[in-house]
Amino acid sequence: MPEDANITPWSVSGDLTESQYQRIAHEFGAKIIDSEMIERIRSVLGDVHPYLLNGTFYAHRDLDIALEDLKNGKKVYLYTGRGPSGKMHLGHILPFLFTKWLQEKMGAHLIIQITDDEKFVFRDLELNDVARYTRENILDILSLGFNPKKTHILVDTENAGLLYNSAIKVSRFVNVSLSKAVFGFQDSDNVGKFFFTCIQSVPAFMLTEHTGETWRCLVPYAIDQDPHFKVSRDVLPKIGMPKPSSIISKFMPALKGSGKMSSSDPNSGIFLDDSPTTVKKKLMKYAFSGGRDTAEEQRKYGANPDIDFAFNAYRLLEPDNEKVRKVYESYRSGAILSGEMKTLASDTINSFLAKLRENRPKAEELFDSYKFSFDKFS
Ligand code: TRP
Repeated sequence: MPEDANITPWSVSGDLTESQYQRIAHEFGAKIIDSEMIERIRSVLGDVHPYLLNGTFYAHRDLDIALEDLKNGKKVYLYTGRGPSGKMHLGHILPFLFTKWLQEKMGAHLIIQITDDEKFVFRDLELNDVARYTRENILDILSLGFNPKKTHILVDTENAGLLYNSAIKVSRFVNVSLSKAVFGFQDSDNVGKFFFTCIQSVPAFMLTEHTGETWRCLVPYAIDQDPHFKVSRDVLPKIGMPKPSSIISKFMPALKGSGKMSSSDPNSGIFLDDSPTTVKKKLMKYAFSGGRDTAEEQRKYGANPDIDFAFNAYRLLEPDNEKVRKVYESYRSGAILSGEMKTLASDTINSFLAKLRENRPKAEELFDSYKFSFDKFS
């Protein structure tokens, strides 16, 4: 019996099936990205990303408004983030890959918030540990090759003054019963947790607040972050700020099939610092397979690629849709066996990771030029 999924920004449990994702988007009040919306994106951006076509980014809030503003030449920017609580895995980096694509198609500025304060308040981590992950995670993200002129890294503790003055404006309108309802907090939770959402909302309006001109904000995030933006969308109009729009993804499937990849279990996912042999070994040993028990059966009946980790990882990293389609067909028909699928996936993952490693020195060199400052926006 599948267990209903329960998702908050701090915990995910239950089975993340397609119907659960649909149900959750619906319950949260987000809209599903349908074919009409995909065509709208194509007409405004001139392209659609495979993650839109394969249902990875599957829901939204007011995406149409952001697209309309973009089309009309109004100011639109992107905002996303990362909580630096540990090493990054593939599931963490893929939303950034999509965000980079959006940024390029939109020609937009991007703010990346690093919520080190969040990880201190919510996890049993000391500020020193968090600081180490902050730098490492930023370098991982920047290794994707973000444009330094348009990409702005905002580390919460380093920009505390700037964030605090805006966050208190939000905090007046976030009461305890709302926080409990939206985030599932208990009476025993510390007060830092209750305040934190105010900090996460600031990058969604800070440009408008600072410049006095309206900047539409579009936030790409995985569905677990939706409660934060539900609160932001509720509060920001009350302080005279525009509501942010959002574009919302599912999680990358876990290596072992159920749940999501987790930093606390090294064998639950592929980490960015895994060596090529480790990647291959993890795939061969742990990857959940949609294949049959024997080669003979597989040749005869084919695999189920949709639930197969190797196929999904390949699909998320291979930009050529036509190639992916062919592999899907061959795997489903039984022409490709599970071992071959795993080899193809591990080669694809390894060349993606090799590229990140190759870009890393450049990211280190440019590190300071990505620091947030208001005078970089125009
Ligand atoms: N809270 C997020 C995390 O734990 C980080 C984050 C901050 C974020 N701002 C965001 C994620 C905006 C997506 C969009 O990872």
